[in-house]
Amino acid sequence: MHISLSSSNLHSWEGEILVIGIFEGQSKNLNFLDKSIESNLSNALNKKKFTGKDGEIECFNFIELKYEKLILIGLGDTKEASINNLKRNIYSAVKLTRKLTGKIGIYVPWENYDEDEAIEAIGESARLSLYKDNRFKSTSDEVDDNNLKSVQIICCSEKSKVCINNIEAICSGIELARELVAAPPNYLTPNEYANIAKQLAKENNLKLKVLDKKDCQNLGMGAYLAVAQGSDLDAKFIHLTYKPSESVKRTIALVGKGLTFDSGGYNLKVGASQIEMMKFDMGGSAAVIGAAKAISQIRPKNVEVHFIIAACENMINGSAVHPGDIVTASNGKTIEINNTDAEGRLTLADALVYASKLEPDAIVDLATLTGACVIALGDEIAGLWTNNDLLAEELKTAANSVDEGLWRMPLHDPYKDGIKSMFADMKNTGPRGGGAITAAIFLKEFISDSIPWAHIDIAGTVWSDKDKNSTPSGATGYGVKTLVKWVCTNSNNTKQL
Ligand code: BES
Ligand code: MN
Ligand code: ZN
Repeated sequence: MHISLSSSNLHSWEGEILVIGIFEGQSKNLNFLDKSIESNLSNALNKKKFTGKDGEIECFNFIELKYEKLILIGLGDTKEASINNLKRNIYSAVKLTRKLTGKIGIYVPWENYDEDEAIEAIGESARLSLYKDNRFKSTSDEVDDNNLKSVQIICCSEKSKVCINNIEAICSGIELARELVAAPPNYLTPNEYANIAKQLAKENNLKLKVLDKKDCQNLGMGAYLAVAQGSDLDAKFIHLTYKPSESVKRTIALVGKGLTFDSGGYNLKVGASQIEMMKFDMGGSAAVIGAAKAISQIRPKNVEVHFIIAACENMINGSAVHPGDIVTASNGKTIEINNTDAEGRLTLADALVYASKLEPDAIVDLATLTGACVIALGDEIAGLWTNNDLLAEELKTAANSVDEGLWRMPLHDPYKDGIKSMFADMKNTGPRGGGAITAAIFLKEFISDSIPWAHIDIAGTVWSDKDKNSTPSGATGYGVKTLVKWVCTNSNNTKQL
């Protein structure tokens, strides 16, 4: 789907479908619409009692007129005009055009918004609302070919500095992350994951290194390989790099949990533990890959970004790890695996040691790490743990501005006692209470203290059971926007974290 901006006015705009946003109380004065559209619309609207209330939608089909379809959306009170309301409304209006083809024009009264922000919001919502994942259906009643559609945001002032390319880059990153999370585990295997990374690297000029089992053994990644050893599928350690063409002022490592399936291992997921949903256990890495796609297309200056995924499955067979096994991670620390279902932190341990060796200015990991985080924060807010206050502020600011929920949680030192082991340096599972915190404290053991590091637990936000505002149910793509925003707005930041 193609997005463009146009400074042409309503009257001269030509296309098939027109979407117009109207604020509350302004619908009575729609003469301007009558003039532009050459119809007696204001009368029709008055009859329908359209008032412009937030979320109101009215649809008109004209066979013989200039447009085939006109969609009016209520934007609510001008005093409460917000970008998030605008996003939600554009999303539902454009969604109504899914089965149609042609050019869609969108106009909202800009004077109540920061115009560039509003244009970005409209572009993003329009694009995401037209997207449908039909990969695993044999038939579809929708227009599959999104190329048959185009969206034009009209009546923009000529001074608008919005970069359509960036909107498209971010949306394609979100769509990729959603597709990866939604892909079933028999399709998205660790090997397929490496192939997808290879394709991404080729198309977007990223460097790629894939380590196989032997390479990981040579690096001493005993924690990661312990998780993978019960699967018939080999582990693949994926490392993509984005290098800017200018001098590098900041180097960042983004690490994502990449369990293509988590059965729990011998601590098998039983009862209400949602084993059938555990294809989403690579959601952290999907956000990282989605961000890699967007960042490689936006090409921010002065920032080098490493994208790191220790991909594997947590399965059961005769050589699977036993509950009680002791393994050694690549920094030499020993871990008693008292619960095979706390596998994410084992894979991340070696991925974080690997990331630390790159000596980046910051490491951020994302992971569907604990059910405890879902209990604490629900499915709209991810948990943030970090050893650096400035990094916390940067990440919270980024998340806030893209409307992704993020809440800082404590790295409460005394809870380290919870993962004390009688035999090894630590065990991988602590007590039930504060389970998301001990998980974060466990990860901290694999970061050198001098590196600013943040851990984001997305166990709740990775998937949504219902449509929420402008995010459809299913895989949310959570994290892509926050990561891209954080990397791009702070790329020039020479300030030490
Ligand atoms: N992938 C799960 C975490 C999870 C659970 C994500 C539910 C989303 C929904 C993780 O590997 C896991 O199994 N964690 C255990 C840890 C426990 C054994 C300490 C959990 O949260 O129950
Ligand atoms: Mn698990
Ligand atoms: Zn898991």
